[in-house]
Amino acid sequence: MPYLPVIALERAGSEPLSAQIVAQMRSSILLGELHVGESVPSTRALAARLGVSRGSVVTAYDQLTGEGYLVSTQGAPTRVAVLVHEGDAALPTQSVVAPKSGPAPVVLDLTPGYPSTRRLSGRAWTAAWRRAAAQPIPHTEPPLQGTMALRTEVAQHLRHARGVLCSIDDIIVTAGTSEALALVAVALQERGGAGAALADRVGRAPLVAVETPGYPAAARVLRRLGVNLVSIPNEADGMPVRALDALANRVDAVLVTPSHQYPLGGRLPVEDRLRLLHWAQRTDAWIIEDDYDSEFRHVGPPLPALASLDNDGRVVLVGSFSKVLTPWLRVGYLVLPERAAVRDALLAVRGDLPGPVSGVVQEAAAALLSSGAVRRHIATARRDYAHRRRLVLESLSSVPGTTLTALDGGLHAVLELADQVVAGLAVSELLRRGIRVADLRDYSAEPVKSAVPAGLVFGYAACNDTALARALDQIRAVTAGTPTPNDGSEPCTAG
Ligand SMILES: Cc1ncc(COP(=O)(O)O)c(C=O)c1O
Repeated sequence: MPYLPVIALERAGSEPLSAQIVAQMRSSILLGELHVGESVPSTRALAARLGVSRGSVVTAYDQLTGEGYLVSTQGAPTRVAVLVHEGDAALPTQSVVAPKSGPAPVVLDLTPGYPSTRRLSGRAWTAAWRRAAAQPIPHTEPPLQGTMALRTEVAQHLRHARGVLCSIDDIIVTAGTSEALALVAVALQERGGAGAALADRVGRAPLVAVETPGYPAAARVLRRLGVNLVSIPNEADGMPVRALDALANRVDAVLVTPSHQYPLGGRLPVEDRLRLLHWAQRTDAWIIEDDYDSEFRHVGPPLPALASLDNDGRVVLVGSFSKVLTPWLRVGYLVLPERAAVRDALLAVRGDLPGPVSGVVQEAAAALLSSGAVRRHIATARRDYAHRRRLVLESLSSVPGTTLTALDGGLHAVLELADQVVAGLAVSELLRRGIRVADLRDYSAEPVKSAVPAGLVFGYAACNDTALARALDQIRAVTAGTPTPNDGSEPCTAG
């Protein structure tokens, strides 16, 4: 019979036997006692071994299969599946059998950026979709800027969560941040060089300054759409405005994450925000504010969005429901600033590139927002994430030779390491142990990565507490043995 760790059943207890089998097998998988791809005993064999009815084992296996821990294929033994994220039953079946050779399959995926969706599914979620589906079916496309219902709810969400006052006319619904950035990129192409004489603008690719390290997906979208990038190395709080002044070339726009620098976690103080706004006014540049995770601030109150300080109408605020709800939705938004040139340029692009978010999805998102479910979800998710953040701090804040940062808000952490060689080795060793984290050097838009600190970036929101604790143990074990930065006497700090 295939190996299975001991299952101890409490027969006199109130918990059903099938639930006890589920709990113990689940924790054996999460603790690595059962390996990915390994077969488990047949229901008949396990029932005989445990002295329970076969029905109890079938129920338990069905549940574990539904949760993505096991996979059963007709005619083959039931096996341990690849566990990717909690609550994610769709992904594990993609690669369920351990390869005979090569790296271990990923058991715990701590790829940064993903939220927990476990508490999202429920009555409010289902009701929102039912409501959207029950509405009369229009014979037209959704309005170019998005449905009235969703824009009304987004405006309220922004007022409530971010202190941003805007009207529904200021909002364009987008398929997330990436699509908002695509709109901006095309609008910048049409505008040509900022403030330059017309002759200079023609045929010149727009130039956008980005933070380094920064959000790699944003850099990729902008580049794909013909934008040239100039990397500005971050200082502790984020992008230093001095560096923009020192640039040889005039830039058309700057892309910033002032509330929680991605990925290092700095927060641009108010003086620097004002300096950035003055710089943009002086140079006639646009500011793209990527406000991606401000709803989840763990330390201190969130600073108001840069857009709310903008008296000159040149900050394009970009937001997304990818962290608040899930990137599976592909719903986000862009808030147009007052300046007519910026508004008109973006609206003209949207006119020719109509929004890709289906009307039904927009109505469901609006229904979810108007029911109060999103606000409630943010409150509970924030508590869950605060707890997981504490687990990260407890596990990793005092590992010799490392510095834990980026934890003041959001869904991810950064563990800075001695150098890029050490970080690269740690990433591969963790992958060998079945844990996926990202290498900080991949967050640079530059081919030369020397300006980027060395370290690991990992998300702590999407997997459950047990899986996270296990992954953190592994991260600590792998990084504790690494050489210390510089002379080895650096203090360890926690973000
Ligand atoms: C910095 C940053 N901005 C925005 C997003 C959201 O992107 P999207 O709305 O395209 O899913 C993410 C998601 O990981 C992010 O890390």
